[in-house]
Amino acid sequence: MNAGLWRHMDYNCIKMPRPQYLGAKYALLPWIIPLAEFNGGVALDGFGGSQSVAFEMKKAGCTVYTCDFLSFCHQSGLALVENSGEILSSDDLHVLFSDNPGRGDVMLKFKDVFFAEEECVVLDNFRANVDKITQPHKRALALAVMCRALTRKTIMGHFAHMQAMAYANNPARVRRNPSIARPVRDLFFEIAPEYNAAIFDNSRDNKSYRANILDLLPQLAGEVDVAYYDPPYCGSHADYQAFYHLLETFVENWRDKTFINGNFRYHPPRPSGFDKIVEVERSFRDLFALSDEISRWLVSYNDLGAVNRGAC
Ligand SMILES: C[S@@+](CC[C@H](N)C(=O)[O-])C[C@H]1O[C@@H](n2cnc3c(N)ncnc32)[C@H](O)[C@@H]1O
Repeated sequence: MNAGLWRHMDYNCIKMPRPQYLGAKYALLPWIIPLAEFNGGVALDGFGGSQSVAFEMKKAGCTVYTCDFLSFCHQSGLALVENSGEILSSDDLHVLFSDNPGRGDVMLKFKDVFFAEEECVVLDNFRANVDKITQPHKRALALAVMCRALTRKTIMGHFAHMQAMAYANNPARVRRNPSIARPVRDLFFEIAPEYNAAIFDNSRDNKSYRANILDLLPQLAGEVDVAYYDPPYCGSHADYQAFYHLLETFVENWRDKTFINGNFRYHPPRPSGFDKIVEVERSFRDLFALSDEISRWLVSYNDLGAVNRGAC
């Protein structure tokens, strides 16, 4: 049997852990992947998010470049796409959840907004302990699993609201979604094996970038065969930093930011170019001009997105 085909069949058994991320294409993969025909070559996921599509590109045997302008998405890219073999051992889990007297207090600011005080302390300990892990892919895997545990623990799976504590203390809500009342450590321990099982080597030099795609594309000139673009749908829940600010603050371990509103969203946000009506048309023009040398593009956009509504 052809070695490439054997490898491809082998990867098909590997499952990406189900993400909970706005606009994630995980559920649409059976529809997207045949359209995209990712068969080897160099594939770019320009707006990687949960990495659902980049992970499939990796399974298809491509050299994958995945990009997102948010750090926590980039860490998932390092963990699930760039990583070819680092997994979390029980020793690692012990280190990550041990008490760290030098811990910071970045997560403590979210006390009584998203988590009870003791959970904030667990998270600050964990964040300090992550920095003891020097291998970058293992470190990224620890952060990626914790970010997933945090979206399971938080009602609606995002942080653009102030209902987390009210729901976690409401027995009827907890009966419907027990995860919101479970210790984050338990959720982490439950999720970590699924992530470990998703780590594989497709024998390619895959890369995860934390970058604005418009800055990255010139650096990749001439290298990419096929690009998948799934930008925020401007005018329809496009502000990813409003929804996931807590995960970005956690991963960045930000102390020197201004935090605003009742939910302590960081400020100023990173510029996207794809989330504001006044910028989105220019950004698409730049994206397509910079992709001139890429022979195949696949773009996801919804009917409510500003470009499709003729708002620009
Ligand atoms: C619709 S989501 C992508 C979802 C992804 N395809 C998945 O399956 O999870 C859009 C992503 O674009 C990212 N983003 C927004 N502006 C960006 C930019 N200028 N460059 C790179 N990423 C950007 C957001 O952080 C978000 O993760």
